[in-house]
Amino acid sequence: MAEIVIVPSAAAAGELVAEEIVKLITARPDAVLGLATGSTPLPVYEALRPRLAGVDVSRVRGFALDEYVGIDPHHPESYRSVITKEVVEPLGLDPERIHTPNGALETISHAGEDYERAIADAGGIDLQILGIGTSGHIGFNEPGSSFASRTRVKTLIEQTRQDNARFFDSVDEVPMHCITQGLGTILEARHLFLLAFGEGKAAAVAGAVEGPVTSSLPGSAIQLHPHTTVVVDEAAASQLAHADYYRYAFANKPAWQGL
Ligand code: F6R
Repeated sequence: MAEIVIVPSAAAAGELVAEEIVKLITARPDAVLGLATGSTPLPVYEALRPRLAGVDVSRVRGFALDEYVGIDPHHPESYRSVITKEVVEPLGLDPERIHTPNGALETISHAGEDYERAIADAGGIDLQILGIGTSGHIGFNEPGSSFASRTRVKTLIEQTRQDNARFFDSVDEVPMHCITQGLGTILEARHLFLLAFGEGKAAAVAGAVEGPVTSSLPGSAIQLHPHTTVVVDEAAASQLAHADYYRYAFANKPAWQGL
């Protein structure tokens, strides 16, 4: 099963994951990162900034999980813009090496295949950062998504549009369609880090970690992955039945094991 790490705060989670990313980039300067957007990964990107000063990041590659369909790529809430502002610019990455799915309507019929090919050409994703939606989605794989799915267009459920309305002037402006890495795509990344903070994520986290493996809760796909680390704060961990065991196991983790 996944390793569950319960941390005191989102900032502590950011530091833990950032340390792993720095180790990866130091060992492999052309590492391929899987990047999430939304609020959850921000502490990771913030913690990376000072840690990457002095590290050669010129060859680091990255693939975002998803993008809205039909949004102007220059719109401040397009995931291309968000990744540029939150990741590429502050961390000094090469924008040519950081990819987001192409949500342009003109090429949308083959944008999924194109993205899959680009990930494969890069040799796959080494470390994938994931948030989880209150619907249990990872990427924008809403309930009902196939575990074999690849990058494709999905329709956002109303709950997700409501959740993301905070980034727009109103819920009506949140696009209805997105293009997202599939669950099959995500499961091929070599190491998954699923992060969640706050009470609002507690049910989705408990379902993903301890519930049945079901496409009704797409985050439960992590149970099929051989190397997943779930990093949650106390509030997001509050519905985990075996939280005490996870704390005990992490506190007594052999030093040689690593994350
Ligand atoms: C973002 C993504 C989504 C978010 C999820 C949680 O690229 O794929 O799965 O991770 O909607 O969003 P936040 O972090 O804003 O709560």
